[in-house]
Amino acid sequence: MSTPTSDVLIIGGGVAGLTLALEVADQRSVTLVRPAQDDQGASRWAQGGIAAVLSPDDDLEAHINDTLIAGDGLCDVEAVRFTVTHGPAAIQWLIDQGVPFTPETDPAARYPYHLTREGGHNARRIIHADDATGRAVVDTLLDSVAQHPNITQRNDLTVVGLLQDVHGTCHGAYGNDTNQQWHSLTARHTVLATGGASGLYRHTTTPAPSSGEGMMMAAELGARLMNLEFQQFHPTCLFDPEGPAFLISEAVRGEGGHLLNEAGERFMLALDKRAELAPRDVVARAIDAEIQRSSLGHVWLDIRHLGEKAIHHHFPTIQAHCASRGIDITQQAIPVVPAAHYSCGGVATNLQGATNVANLYAIGETACTGLHGANRMASNSLLECLVFARSCAQALLADAEQNGLTTSSSEFQPPTPAAAATFPKAVLSDIRQQMRTTMSQHVSIVRSTTGLSTALEHLKTLLNSVEEIQGALKAPEGKRLHQTLQLALLTVIAAQQRHESRGLHYSTDWPHQRPQAIASALSINDLTDALEKNR
Ligand code: SIN
Repeated sequence: MSTPTSDVLIIGGGVAGLTLALEVADQRSVTLVRPAQDDQGASRWAQGGIAAVLSPDDDLEAHINDTLIAGDGLCDVEAVRFTVTHGPAAIQWLIDQGVPFTPETDPAARYPYHLTREGGHNARRIIHADDATGRAVVDTLLDSVAQHPNITQRNDLTVVGLLQDVHGTCHGAYGNDTNQQWHSLTARHTVLATGGASGLYRHTTTPAPSSGEGMMMAAELGARLMNLEFQQFHPTCLFDPEGPAFLISEAVRGEGGHLLNEAGERFMLALDKRAELAPRDVVARAIDAEIQRSSLGHVWLDIRHLGEKAIHHHFPTIQAHCASRGIDITQQAIPVVPAAHYSCGGVATNLQGATNVANLYAIGETACTGLHGANRMASNSLLECLVFARSCAQALLADAEQNGLTTSSSEFQPPTPAAAATFPKAVLSDIRQQMRTTMSQHVSIVRSTTGLSTALEHLKTLLNSVEEIQGALKAPEGKRLHQTLQLALLTVIAAQQRHESRGLHYSTDWPHQRPQAIASALSINDLTDALEKNR
């Protein structure tokens, strides 16, 4: 089945996708593919806020410098400067859209909205809506999207691949609907805003994160993938092995929360002069080491000293959620562990979100713009979503102005579907769990050469077992799992190639940093080569 061609096809409905849709829709027709359940994307779960230079007491150079330090030498300086410079205008755009940011209550303050602090930032520069910023931004943008006559939302489709002509140009995407019907969605411009790859791991900060499927869809067309080895683990996810994932925002430490070990000591003080507000790679590694040393299985995050009133004022969502899990955070310290949170790597793009595949763009966590380097600084992610969605919009409008909008819908047909009824879903789910266990054991906060080799071999076996299931690659679940395993393998290959420790990539066999920071770049051919070697 083929749907009418649109000017712009956006796959993913988080902050990046919604912003782009609104920025082009007055002049172009937009098809926006969003997950059926609204709580699926990572944006909605972002608690802390958005980093930008907003107070007259802060300045752009300081934000640039903090980002470069957190990125541990690997940031693309031009991308950092571009993002930070465009930050204040992007926030004003959100304010104009009606996002209910938390107002400042201190009459002496020089900016009307409250600004909090998070790790790596040397100033208060995080604008937020209580402790549920992502939800406030997504809900506000979604209201405007729903009312826009030029935006068609599709929440009945799971996109599994992109359409490409013989010249290599992207012409849209194809996917499967809830009745197992296949559809192709053609467009002049296709934009991936499909999120990261934290779903490769067993414990994550959001309940159902992406597992890099969008990144692999781009790679299948020849797009370059950058810096995949830099998977961020958020230091503080609620420890509750039986319950659903729940993030305890970095803003808790920003407002004065202390990390305590089994003995009740503040262990960060001895490790880094920034203590609990050191960048995430440093804090997550320190927590991991404490967990290995203790019998608790977690550390504590203590904010009792802030007092009941301040806790309720700053963290109403976290307080209510923890209460629902039996923890009164005004009276008890919170048990926390690191969990997979954010992919610093992704589809390589320029400052307008363009990939190396003609007419294919990537924005948000799917993309690797160079902003985050080896370790993303807190609250720079929603900023990147906004700034790059807006610059991408400008590029799409200008390109269509110059080159027209023609694309043909008839020549791109979706693949022949598999017989859905006979498909072994339980087998696929078991393979996915095995992949997550392997990634969590061997490719997480601390890595080793032996562990990476073990992971590579196991992932290859899992990939083979999917390929051997008849019809698997023609069914959406099979195809997506295959993409996920491919991305896991590429992540391991990227980690194996980095003979140093930098940012989020720490290897016990290569503990030192090389003098020169070099970004990693892989394509699907690197995967084919690695698989061929052992055949
Ligand atoms: C948090 O609130 O700690 C998450 C925000 C982010 O990842 O930048």
